[in-house]
Amino acid sequence: MTKKLWGTRFSKNTNSLADKFTSSISFDKRLAEYDVLGSIAHAKMLGKQKIIPKADANSIVAGLNAILKDLKNGRFNFDAGSEDIHSNIQDALFKKIGKAAFKLHTARSRNDQIALDVKMYVKEEIDNLLELTADLQKSILIFAKKNAKTIIPGYTHLQVAQCVLLAHHLLAYVEALERDKTRLLDAKKRADLMPLGSCAMSGTALGIDRAYVAKELGFKSATQNSIDSVCDRDFIIETLAALSIISVHLSRIAEDLILWSTKEFSFIDIDFSFCTGSSIMPHKKNPDILELIRGSVGRIQGDLSNVLILMKGLPSSYNRDLQLDKPPLFDAVDTVKGMLEIFIALFGNIVIEKEAIAAKILDESLFSVDIVEYLIKKGISYREAHDIVGRMVRDCLDKGKKISSLNDKELKKYSVKLGPDVKRILNAWASVSLKKSFGGTSPKLVEKQMYAWIRRLK
Ligand code: ARG
Repeated sequence: MTKKLWGTRFSKNTNSLADKFTSSISFDKRLAEYDVLGSIAHAKMLGKQKIIPKADANSIVAGLNAILKDLKNGRFNFDAGSEDIHSNIQDALFKKIGKAAFKLHTARSRNDQIALDVKMYVKEEIDNLLELTADLQKSILIFAKKNAKTIIPGYTHLQVAQCVLLAHHLLAYVEALERDKTRLLDAKKRADLMPLGSCAMSGTALGIDRAYVAKELGFKSATQNSIDSVCDRDFIIETLAALSIISVHLSRIAEDLILWSTKEFSFIDIDFSFCTGSSIMPHKKNPDILELIRGSVGRIQGDLSNVLILMKGLPSSYNRDLQLDKPPLFDAVDTVKGMLEIFIALFGNIVIEKEAIAAKILDESLFSVDIVEYLIKKGISYREAHDIVGRMVRDCLDKGKKISSLNDKELKKYSVKLGPDVKRILNAWASVSLKKSFGGTSPKLVEKQMYAWIRRLK
């Protein structure tokens, strides 16, 4: 067991159970590189401000750079007997440069140090998540472009509703993912304030330069209040909330694709390389990846609840409870990254079942609103038009007839305004082409939107 940073005041060793229970090195080791980078900036500042001799500062920085190299090469030995990542790096530095290492912890505490490490981690991971989310948008756009002319039945209440372009449906995903990116960027803004130098909770009597450290580490500025700095975890909650919403979106996309891949829908075929089989039913080809994406939402939302409950009613300033914010944060980041990565690949491995879809869009109930709007254009009120078309649909269903097979006389029975030209709109292409309102599914608008996204995401 290495000597604790705070061991001297203690008249005896801590119980081994207490050590085990309080240790965080098993998970905060992931913050090692941020911890070292933060320490390098801190040491430089201490030297610049003449709080420690320049020579010691240089030696600390050199030692920390060597540690950074070891970390990057996987040669750093984490000591499980050393309480946390901060003690681990401190011990390693002592082994490299001797007593000068003792000066590194001047004018800081682990309370502001851990806040700094996590903020650096969050900022970097948000950048990674933004890139992955954009990559998923691009992967969806490639799929949309490949199938730009495909029309599918759209659904409300999971009942056949109206024709839409598949690309329009896919652009809805792109739109939602764009909002996700703005939420992540927003969370990053709040993580971009540098807490180091707040020390335990009240600041320090030593002449530190916090603005310098903030600049060195690429933060927008230093935090303003030392008490808030050591206990603010809003940026974690906000990141987890953004991740929760992303995961909800991913689960909904997954659910669409699961439905579409069923025999009942037969809109898409997912490549064998992204499906699994059944150990008992030889005929099965299951969309397990999509189901696991759908199922992962519980985990992410659990992570968010975990931290929200952790923070509730916590007294101001630092409390050790805060150590427990990291496992759920890491878990959510890892899980969502995994979900995004597999989704990016999966979109390249789906093909459209053109014939099955073509058969489905012959269903004339898809055009009922188009007939209503045809009548409205001829001066009939919405309510009346709705009744007229309702009667037509009901009669045709009862008699097993198609609206397109009704002759002129039969049409006129429902309304004198119904001319033979109504039959021209009873097909999927006409139906989507009519939806020219801004944001609607008309091919021209959808194409314009698709290319706008492609340009924007380049
Ligand atoms: N492991 C702690 C955490 O994650 C670091 C700060 C510990 N501070 C302290 N005074 N015990 O929050």
